[in-house]
Amino acid sequence: MTTVGIDAIEFRTGKLKLDLPGTFAPQKGEDPEKYTKGLGLTGSSFPDSYEDIVTMAANASYRLMDRKGLEPDDVGRIDVATESSFDNSKPVSTYVAGCLEQVFDGEFGHANKGERKFACVSGTQCVDDAYNWIRAGRNRGRGALVIATDTALYARGDAGEATQGAGAVAMYVDEDPDLVALSTEQGYGSADETDFLKPNQQFPSVDGKRSVQVYLARMREALVDYQSVAGRVHPDDFTYAPFHTPFPGMVRKAALLAYRHVTRDTAIEDELAEEIGRQPRREGFDDEEAFTGAIREYMDGLKGTDRYREWYAETIDPTIEISREVGNWYTGSVHVARISALKHALENDRDLAGEKLLVGSYGSGAQAEIHVETVADGWAEEVAALDVDDQLADRYDLEWAEYEEIHDVHNHETDVEVEPRTAPDAEFVFDGWGPMGERKYRYVE
Ligand code: CAA
Repeated sequence: MTTVGIDAIEFRTGKLKLDLPGTFAPQKGEDPEKYTKGLGLTGSSFPDSYEDIVTMAANASYRLMDRKGLEPDDVGRIDVATESSFDNSKPVSTYVAGCLEQVFDGEFGHANKGERKFACVSGTQCVDDAYNWIRAGRNRGRGALVIATDTALYARGDAGEATQGAGAVAMYVDEDPDLVALSTEQGYGSADETDFLKPNQQFPSVDGKRSVQVYLARMREALVDYQSVAGRVHPDDFTYAPFHTPFPGMVRKAALLAYRHVTRDTAIEDELAEEIGRQPRREGFDDEEAFTGAIREYMDGLKGTDRYREWYAETIDPTIEISREVGNWYTGSVHVARISALKHALENDRDLAGEKLLVGSYGSGAQAEIHVETVADGWAEEVAALDVDDQLADRYDLEWAEYEEIHDVHNHETDVEVEPRTAPDAEFVFDGWGPMGERKYRYVE
């Protein structure tokens, strides 16, 4: 059976940057280390005044198609995952196709287009839809363009303001992929939750502390469900574990729980027992409080062990390197984590072909999904073609007053125009409003 998976990937950051320890923390009267050490963030990406979810999606897609020599005729579906959409009917994918038709000779008239919603997990759901469509043999030899694009903004003054970000990840899902192959095995943890939602409003209503607990609970359920179909997961089975990264500190919490879970009843637990004892088992305790207290104590011990720290440094830290600098991209975030890990491997001369990634996606509301991907032979060439470092270095560093203005520019409730801080260069830009309230876009040479 031929493999199906992600053949190519592209990364597009918003062209502005907010320095969290340097600019944000002093304004809030907070210790910069809350950001660098606590949340694990140094910066957030923001869109300039001519950028939005469509321009970032179209610019990532154009680069991907151009680099891979793809024409509109090669693309049988365009699916956009976003939780920042500005239209309840017309999907962002139609705007993206309209942009791309300005620069390619062909058209996307044959392509099935849509928009997927389930908070941040919908990017992965779009990849799944593409996989299923190809596996079902309905693709007529074509691949799917999947784009995760968001401006992850919070209301000014909300605790989430520290974790904002903006960017798009475009992926081409096809047979015999060059980057990673997917499989049929998946695990889910899903429940009706109201920790983070946007009931017909742009900025989220968030119960931040609870959202962290919901993330951990659903992720744990997804891992258990994954093991029920794929068998036990052992830390040696995978090289990296890219997880949804609302902020790196969240992944730090999830990684510790996951490590405890996958090392239970293994030689690793036995080896660690001399130093920190064995993992507490529920049956060894009379009441829940004593059991959770013992777990907390075990986890505190575990995170200080050399064994855990080495595993974390090798398996998790490389996945959050980019996220530290760009913040949360909602639907794109787990796909940024995958790019981050693969980029780290390339820069450290690792040969990853055939190795496995344990990928954990998550969307508030809430649902987690876990699957394993196999790195394909062409991965290094694909990752070498990315220009992540240049894009990050080229971002314009916002002063506080400029940040306040740009937040207003992207606030749907305010009508503010400010001069862009950067100059468009060979890219799609927002070009004002049409007669039916539609947003218009233009390619600037
Ligand atoms: N030095 C070192 N560390 C410090 C510090 C200092 N001076 N000051 C604070 N810290 C640490 C804190 O101890 C804390 O770490 P722990 O949780 O490990 O204890 C961390 O920095 C953050 O500090 P606070 O909890 O005090 O921060 P906060 O009250 O401002 O809120 C937040 C943090 C709840 C995550 C908030 O940013 C928020 O609401 N974010 C949006 C919601 C979110 O991202 N939730 C994540 C799960 S939901 C999801 O994943 C979907 C999604 O994309 C939104």
